[in-house]
Amino acid sequence: MKVLHVSAECYPAAKAGGLGDVVGALPKYLSAAGVPTGVIIPKYRLKWFNEHQFHTVYKGAVRLHNYYVPFTIEQESANSLGFPFFVADIPGKFDRPGIYIGPGGHSYADDVERYLSFQQAVLQWMLNSPGRPRLLHCHDHHAGLIPFMIKHCPEYRGLSWMPTVFTIHNGAYHGAFGWDKMYLLPSFEAEARGLLDWSGNINPLATAVKCAGRVTTVSPSYLKELQQNAGGMESLLQHEQHKCLGIINGIDSQVWDPATDSYLGAPLGEDVAAFKKANKQLLAQHFRLNPNLPLVSFVGRLVGQKGADLIPDLIHRVMHSDDNLSFAILGTGEPGLESAFNQLNQQYPGRFSATLEYNEGLAHLIYAGSDFLFMPSRIEPCGLNQMYAMGYGTIPIVRSVGGLKNTVPDIGEPNNTGRGIRFNQFTLDDGQLALHRAVQLFHNPPILEQIRERIMQLDFSWEKPAAEYIEIYKEMGV
Ligand code: ADP
Ligand code: GLC
Repeated sequence: MKVLHVSAECYPAAKAGGLGDVVGALPKYLSAAGVPTGVIIPKYRLKWFNEHQFHTVYKGAVRLHNYYVPFTIEQESANSLGFPFFVADIPGKFDRPGIYIGPGGHSYADDVERYLSFQQAVLQWMLNSPGRPRLLHCHDHHAGLIPFMIKHCPEYRGLSWMPTVFTIHNGAYHGAFGWDKMYLLPSFEAEARGLLDWSGNINPLATAVKCAGRVTTVSPSYLKELQQNAGGMESLLQHEQHKCLGIINGIDSQVWDPATDSYLGAPLGEDVAAFKKANKQLLAQHFRLNPNLPLVSFVGRLVGQKGADLIPDLIHRVMHSDDNLSFAILGTGEPGLESAFNQLNQQYPGRFSATLEYNEGLAHLIYAGSDFLFMPSRIEPCGLNQMYAMGYGTIPIVRSVGGLKNTVPDIGEPNNTGRGIRFNQFTLDDGQLALHRAVQLFHNPPILEQIRERIMQLDFSWEKPAAEYIEIYKEMGV
């Protein structure tokens, strides 16, 4: 193993969103390109973990202030992810049924202790592991203190030679906590205190940006946006520009292949129209929608970042306009939005339908059976849904932001390069106009088919982004 990825998620073991998809896929492609790569995440009490065998590779205990937290590092024995997959089993901290939130829908109150014990467990194992990797690649704030700890905590000084890369998937979450919790950290050099601080708090995201050897964001546009507006961290991202790079994510073509996807009613054969029709039929049945209308769908977390709060009023508008379409939603999130969608379910039967759950298989069917995928995101660091949708012949309708800007040129662009419908402002007017354009496109089959054919042929595979990461690793001596 040359590189170890440290993350809170890894598909298919533990996924809450795109971070899981990326960490479950990138290591396969890095390994295939000649950089043997492994992953470590916390061991949650989720179904996947019960169904797989693990063996212990290290046992230890980390100190959190005045008590020790015992832990075990285990490796998945069958290597079923296609790369060495490790978990940190930390009883009392991660053996819970949710990744970030408990069954009541609330985040865990002891997150600071949880992620501090996870990160230290990884480092203690690294210190004591003869076959340790040559570089650590940390993802999001959950692993953001690692680059600091290996440089400035005497306990981990044995790793200070180890280069670190930090990837920002979601800069909206900093993992910040007050200095009153400093006593939970391992002891560190007094003069390094400033590296932990941002706006008067200990801020793992900011600390990672300061301390990691290289910082990547999951699209070039998102890097630029963070430098303009990063919840107060924009000056830091400008200052560290020299070590930052935006690399657009790929998609795992082993998981997202319309010809072999076992979640679909009908796999893709020679006839694209038949593939779309059969899957739309099934989808319309599930959602009880009229299959003859243009079907627009939304899949994702029902939160402000994804712009899901634009949808309820937009639906009212559209349902009272001449644009005859149906709309399906799959997602979970803010209780206020969930109840708004429940109400719409009652109000527009046959034309609007929301399934408020996490359902991997249904997500696949939506990408295959919809005509359009709606992504009105306020912020979208990369976005994978639009790429899955395009691969499955579904035309994205996106707000021009982050990775959506990099992956979805508008169909009005010259030279037949358009891939979807884009809108700029986060307003009902812009959203409604975008949906109106979609309905018009639906009623123009020759153009619709031409665009469908174009997007299905695009190459969003991981090979190119993996090569860009390898370039970074090489620059860091790996
Ligand atoms: P983010 O990571 O910000 O949530 P991405 O577009 O990168 O957004 O990735 C979202 C991933 O999570 C996709 O694989 C998408 O299909 C999946 N997903 C989101 N919500 C659901 C859901 N309710 N059911 C099934 N899959 C979902
Ligand atoms: C984050 C972002 C999303 C991105 C994903 C994977 O969750 O919100 O845009 O695609 O990470 O990098």
